[in-house]
Amino acid sequence: MSEPSDHKDVVREEFTKQADAYAANSILTDSEKVKRLVQATNAHPEAQVLEVATGPGHVAFEFAKVSDEVVGIDITEAPLEIARKKKQERDIENIHFQKGDGEDIPFPENTFDIVACRLALHHVEAPSNVVKEMSRVCRPEGTVAIDDIVVSEYSKRGKYQNKFERLRDPSHVRALPVSEILEIFTENNLEIIQIETGKLVQEVEEWLDNAETPPTRASEAREMVLKDAKRDLSGTHPYFKDNDLHFTQRTAVIAGKCMS
Ligand SMILES: C[S@@+](CC[C@H](N)C(=O)[O-])C[C@H]1O[C@@H](n2cnc3c(N)ncnc32)[C@H](O)[C@@H]1O
Repeated sequence: MSEPSDHKDVVREEFTKQADAYAANSILTDSEKVKRLVQATNAHPEAQVLEVATGPGHVAFEFAKVSDEVVGIDITEAPLEIARKKKQERDIENIHFQKGDGEDIPFPENTFDIVACRLALHHVEAPSNVVKEMSRVCRPEGTVAIDDIVVSEYSKRGKYQNKFERLRDPSHVRALPVSEILEIFTENNLEIIQIETGKLVQEVEEWLDNAETPPTRASEAREMVLKDAKRDLSGTHPYFKDNDLHFTQRTAVIAGKCMS
C-alpha cells in the first residue's frame, strides 16, 4: 500500500486547477492520438478495460466504443466529475469512473484484459509502482499499455526537457526515456509487443496558459525553450512559426503482454 505523498497533493492541486482547460485541449482530444493507445491493445468486444489516471476520460470513452466494460480511475476529483458528466450527456452505459491511485489500484489481481495509461506516468514519483500495479490487475495473456511523453536517451538532454516541463507544471516529475519504460515493463512480467513513437507539437504560450503557470516560472520556462532553440539542448527542436515559439514533445506507446 502506498502512503499518500505530498507530490500527490501537488497533482490534485494542478489537475483541479487545469481541469476545464485540459478537458477542452484539442491536442489531447484529437481522436487519432487517442485511438493510438486503444489500437495498440487490440481491444475487442469482450474486453474488460481499466484506464489508470483517466482524467476527463478521453481514452476511456474511446475504449468504451470497442470494449465490453471500461473503468477509469484517477486521484483527482475535478476531471472525474467532467468525465461523469460526459458519460451522462452521452448516455453511455459501459463506462464507470471512480477515485483510485495508480500506485495502489483498488481491484484484485487478474481483473482486467486491458490496462492502459496515457500521459500520466511522468506525473508519478515512482512510475515502476504504477506499472507493477497495472501488471498485477491484468489477466495472464492480457495487455498493459502506456502512452506517454518520452525524453532523450541522453540523460543531460532529458533532464533539460524535464526541467522546463516542471517549471510549467510542478506536478510533472520526470518523463522517462523509452529504454527505461521498456526495462520497467520487462521487470514486471510484461513482454514488449509494440512500440510506436509519435509527437505532440506545443505552442509555448498556449502550453503555459493551459497550466496557468505563474509569470515568474513561465518566464523561466520560456527562456529555457528559447535557449534550446539556439543550442539544441533537449531534442525538442523549438522553432518559430508566425512569431510563435513551438517545441515538440516526443511520445511513445508501449504495449506489453502479461506473462503471469
Ligand atoms: C495529463 S492527465 C492525463 C489524463 C488522461 N489519461 C488523458 O490522457 O487525457 C494526468 C492525470 O493523471 C492523474 N494522476 C496523477 N498521478 C496519479 C496517480 N498516482 N493515480 C491516479 N491518477 C493519477 C492526474 O490526476 C491527472 O488527471
